[in-house]
Formats: sequence, C-alpha cells, structure tokens
Amino acid sequence: MPKRILSGAQPTGNVHLGNYLGALRNWVTLQHEYQSFFCIVNLHAVTVPQDPKLLAEKTRELARIYLAVGIDPDISTVFVQSDLPQHAELTWILNCVARMSELERMTQFKDKARKQSENVTAGLFDYPVLMASDILLYQTDLVPVGEDQRQHLELTRDLAIRFNRDYGDTFRVPQAYIPKVGARIMSLSDPTKKMSKSDDDPNGCVMLLDDPEAVSRKFKRAVTDSGTEITFDDSRPAITNLLTIYQLLTGQPTGEIESHFAGKGYALLKQDLADVTVEFLRPFQERVKGIGAEELNRILGQGREKARQIAGTTLANAYAAMGIVGACTTD
Ligand code: TYM
Repeated sequence: MPKRILSGAQPTGNVHLGNYLGALRNWVTLQHEYQSFFCIVNLHAVTVPQDPKLLAEKTRELARIYLAVGIDPDISTVFVQSDLPQHAELTWILNCVARMSELERMTQFKDKARKQSENVTAGLFDYPVLMASDILLYQTDLVPVGEDQRQHLELTRDLAIRFNRDYGDTFRVPQAYIPKVGARIMSLSDPTKKMSKSDDDPNGCVMLLDDPEAVSRKFKRAVTDSGTEITFDDSRPAITNLLTIYQLLTGQPTGEIESHFAGKGYALLKQDLADVTVEFLRPFQERVKGIGAEELNRILGQGREKARQIAGTTLANAYAAMGIVGACTTD
C-alpha cells in the first residue's frame, strides 16, 4: 500500500502566504509520493460564527485555490468535509475517548477562547477531536501542516493509540510533517506573531488573492529590524521572515540570497520580494478564475466518492470494535 497523507484548511477569511508556504506548497510536492487526501474543513469553520453566504462562497473558493496551487485531482482526492457525514460520526466516537483535561490544554483553544471570552461554543472546544477524526478516518500516515498544528497532531496520535489499546487495532497512528523552513511564517507588521487570517492589521498578511498593488504596499510597510545587514539571523526575526518568504518563492539557497542582497538596503529587499510574489501570484490567480462551476462540481463529487469508500470502512470498523451494532448486524 502506498503511504497516505491527509491535510486540510478552513474556508474562513482569505488564504495567505503563510498557509501556502507552511502547508499547501508541501501538499503539491508530496502528492506525487503519497496517496493524498485534501479536505476543505467547513465543519471546523463553524466553531466560530460565520456568515452563511460567505462561508458557502469561501468553501468553493478554497477548493479552487487547492487546484490552482497545483493539487492534481487526477492523482489526489479533493473533497469537502461536510460531504462525508463520517467525519461528524467518528467525532462522537472519539469524544468518548478524549479527556476534557487534554482538550483544556490545547493552546489554540485557549487563544481563541480568550479572544471571544463570551459565547465560546462546545464546538470550539471539540475542534481538535473533529480534526483527529479527519485524519484517522483515512488511515493517514503523514499530515503536512504548519507548526501551529503540532499539538493537535499529538492529540490525534494519543487518541489513536488509546482507542487501539482499548478496543483493538483500528487506526493507523499518523505523524506530523512540519517543514524545516516555512512552518511558521510571521506577520509582516509584527514578526513576533504568526501570519494569521484573524490578524487585526490587514497589512500583516499577504493574501493569495491580493492584487499587485496590495502586495507591494504590504511588503513596503513591513516592519524591519534595527541594523542594515540582510542576512538570515534568528536574532533579527523581521528580516529573517522576509528572507524566508523570498527563499521559498524563488527556491534559491540561503548563501546565494545573502550575496544577492549584500550591501543593499531594505527597500530593495522589499521591492524584490513584492516582484517575486506578484510573479508567483499572477498565473495562480488566472488559474483560480479559470476553474468553472461544473468542473469544480465534478472534482468535488469524485473526491467525495473516493473519500467515502475509505471513511465508510474505517467508521464501520470503529463501530464494530466498540460493540456498536444495529439493524444490519447479524447475531
Ligand atoms: P488553517 O486553515 O488555520 O491553516 C491551514 C494550514 O496552514 C498552516 N498555517 C501556517 N503555516 C505557516 N505559517 C503560518 N503563519 C501559518 N498559518 C497557518 C496551518 O498549520 C495549516 O497546516 N486545524 C487546521 C485545519 C484542519 C486540518 C485537519 C489540518 C482540520 N482538519 C486535518 C490537517 C489535517 C487549521 O485550522 O488550518
């Protein structure tokens, strides 16, 4: 059996360079080595309030983005989470395995709950269990994600190991695939914070669907460090972040990039970075526009069918392992 990967992103807000460089970019490469499943996780999105019309639009837009960055639907399975009721069903099962105390320790929950303080939903608390279900349903080996998902992956592994121990071998225990470079792209306006869809400052975040003016403006305003050297240096996080983005978009080795910018000013780095990003985004945005509604329906329909076969089998095995039986079971 070829090894499997599964990953997903939420159709909330706009997809940004951090999502691309930390995750989607790696999906495109890995799909040639692994049997691949890429999910648009709209059930995760509703753990915080969403505008229904916008959520529906963003769900389809995100599917187009997956395809336009280079996910090939002929070799990978692209599907929408809510098309497979097995995700919600397995979540219930795993809810009965997960401990409140381990969910209370999830840092993303604590951060998001702090921001909302009132009206924190039970769904937000349960978010990591739904994520574990996404992964375990497909007997996933590897989960390519950014650094911020590491703790959720640890929980997923713990739940799989606990279920297998208590009910017999049912789930493959997955591993996180977190890239060495790009796993945590930082905000352009505050390099101590990760680039994030929910950043209050829109200038901190370059969106994949930004127009060239917006891209140039955001890089021009990007915060820099004191000093003038343009080198990769952990003690200078703002410049290192800009150089990391440059490195990932150009594919050039660090030494070559440092020599290119030696003796030059920050203004040139920002200009070059804007040019490289715009050149990357232009054909990508054309591809997004070129994916028609019918084509998208066909791809997502085909994805749903491929996903259903595997998800259905895993869920049936989990039910059987727990002794959950009904009308279709023989005595
Ligand atoms: P989401 O939608 O927040 O982000 C999608 C992916 O982008 C990565 N990412 C980043 N990488 C580098 N730098 C950043 N600043 C940055 N910001 C985000 C995330 O790590 C993620 O890989 N919980 C997930 C969605 C999910 C999922 C899953 C992922 C649901 N089920 C199953 C993998 C497997 C999330 O909120 O991603």
